[in-house]
Amino acid sequence: MTILKYAAAAGCGFAFALALTQSDLWAAAVAPRFPKGIPNLTENNTGAPGGNWLAGAKDDAERIRRLQIYAGGTDQQMWQVGYRYEQTFHAITDGNWDFALYQWGKLRDVMNVAFMKRPNRTPNGEAFFLDSVWGQVEGVLKSKDPQAARAAFNQVARQACQGCHEAEAMPWLNTQDVFKRTASFPN
Ligand code: HEC
Repeated sequence: MTILKYAAAAGCGFAFALALTQSDLWAAAVAPRFPKGIPNLTENNTGAPGGNWLAGAKDDAERIRRLQIYAGGTDQQMWQVGYRYEQTFHAITDGNWDFALYQWGKLRDVMNVAFMKRPNRTPNGEAFFLDSVWGQVEGVLKSKDPQAARAAFNQVARQACQGCHEAEAMPWLNTQDVFKRTASFPN
């Protein structure tokens, strides 16, 4: 394309965009609207869709429905569990026992939230992790013994996390990065 042709094409594009911005077509294209992927949002709103996605809901039942959708499922908490698990690993590596216990406590709390939201996961979650493994590892962290903490993390906690993922028929969770990064402690 010569420079002149390029300039002409660009000019046409600009004129077209200008015409579009002044048309109803454009106004409709950019007007706020609820996504197609979540049903019945428009019907259950008091006004036009806007930033008030909760306040604008037609009643509390709809507000609660929206909050439940927003809160998501197990994955939202497991995402955080993965983070806190890795932070615990680093804290053990550093011998920062207060931080390790802090992370380990938050990890338990957030896992309970996951099972409040998805109680079908509670039986495996408690059997594999919460009922005994969590407390066992907490006790070892409190002892501030680096070797015992490393062993508990690798051989007790890791097995419990991964055992539950297998029991929940998602064994492929166990080859994700967080388990690779925490597979062994540096010397
Ligand atoms: C119920 C038993 C159970 C236990 C115990 C458990 N998980 Fe999970 N985990 C799950 C399930 C189920 C999912 C998939 C969630 C979904 O499909 O919404 C998951 C997903 C994950 C994910 C992926 C999250 C994402 O969406 O990116 C991570 C990371 C994770 N778990 C880490 C851990 C770690 C670390 C532990 C141990 C401290 C652990 N899990 C213990 C059941 C468990």
